[in-house]
Amino acid sequence: MKKISIHTNLQQVTLEELPTDYQKLIELAKTQTKSAYAPYSKFFVGAAVLLNDGQVIGGNNQENAAYPSGLCAERVALFYANSQHPSTPIKALAIAAYTNNSFVKKPIAPCGSCLQVLVECELRFNQNIEIILYGEQEIYHIKKAGELLPFSFTLK
Ligand code: THU
Repeated sequence: MKKISIHTNLQQVTLEELPTDYQKLIELAKTQTKSAYAPYSKFFVGAAVLLNDGQVIGGNNQENAAYPSGLCAERVALFYANSQHPSTPIKALAIAAYTNNSFVKKPIAPCGSCLQVLVECELRFNQNIEIILYGEQEIYHIKKAGELLPFSFTLK
């Protein structure tokens, strides 16, 4: 028997330590929570994608009475980016969440399905996607989505 360990690397940063384009990306993710459609969970998630050419795209969670028909903020933003800009790699993704009258204090992580989509995007464009997770008390900066799903499913 051989024991295998998989490690995840992430950095806790302050807002000021992030480059200004990532600070702006967080602002967009926060703004995006305002137009989320989350009448069931009342958990409003905003996502903001930065493309290689500097364009930014927002998204938010869209819920449905038939629960599985809804979609997370991250995938709304990622799929829109990929559908409208199929040749432009994604550089970074910021995520914020708002519930009970405030932004979450500790960051939330993308769900497993969103991580799988992020890893697909990294493979598709052969480029790491930086993830910025916003919380009022803590901000995490992850250098590539694969860090959060190191044992992802791939056909390669
Ligand atoms: N949600 C997201 O949009 N992104 C995440 O990373 C986690 C969860 C949404 C799904 C659902 O609308 C609500 O948050 C509560 O689970």
